[in-house]
Amino acid sequence: MKNVAEEIKNSNFCIVLTGAGISTESGIPDFRSKDGIWNRYDINEYGYIQNFLENPEKIWKMLKDMILNMEKAEPNKAHYALAEMEKSGYIKAIITQNIDNLHKKAGSKNIIEFHGNFTKMKCMRCEREYEYNQIKLNDLPPKCECNGIIKPDIVFFGEEIPRDAFLKSFQLANKCDLFMIIGTSCEVYPASELPLIAKRRGAKIIEINQENTALTSVADYVLRGKAGIIMEQLLNEIKILQ
Ligand code: APR
Repeated sequence: MKNVAEEIKNSNFCIVLTGAGISTESGIPDFRSKDGIWNRYDINEYGYIQNFLENPEKIWKMLKDMILNMEKAEPNKAHYALAEMEKSGYIKAIITQNIDNLHKKAGSKNIIEFHGNFTKMKCMRCEREYEYNQIKLNDLPPKCECNGIIKPDIVFFGEEIPRDAFLKSFQLANKCDLFMIIGTSCEVYPASELPLIAKRRGAKIIEINQENTALTSVADYVLRGKAGIIMEQLLNEIKILQ
């Protein structure tokens, strides 16, 4: 933990990739753990944009379940620790795969939302934009005044990563000298490629997760445990070094 704190303190350009595991302590299930989303909803029936286009009402039932959970969730110690590390200049950006808006709620500023954000929605016919709290979730799928179907600005499998987020993330992976990966199984491309790009350029990799992942073998440091506890300890270690 002390060595990791020193790496962060001495780094010139540290970036962070977060996944659903950073939000489980806020009450939001992740995707691939035993009580994760893909164990409740079959990924092949609910995870793809084709699924949404073919049966929006069915997919909106899963989305409603996720949104009701996310809208009442609060950031946890891991989110707040990252916001403080950014404020102190120790981390330069957070690339998040999460759509739960918790990094923003925790006060982080430089956030790249790789898979979008549930709070923003759009009509698929006239492209009118909505905030999530303007949408009634009693009749599914929610409709626009033009009678078009409303879709959250989130990335389903089979959809492109938002271009701006994609380009910025790959630029950051090519610039960083330290890359911290928190709470992601690193199973989903292209987000999982970002730490490998950094590694190939000589950046050091820190993995914070409660279990091994697809990228554990390339990590220079592995902190095993709950993100909320580890991030709070890490922040305290950095403060001792100041
Ligand atoms: N502390 C640390 N690690 C945790 C915690 C926790 N409190 N809770 C869960 N984890 C770990 C799990 O062990 C797992 O390795 O976080 C990881 C979560 O992995 P996934 O559920 O696969 O979530 P994620 O990696 O974000 O998925 C990537 O897949 O379905 C798509 O679009 C979806 O963005 C998502 C993408």
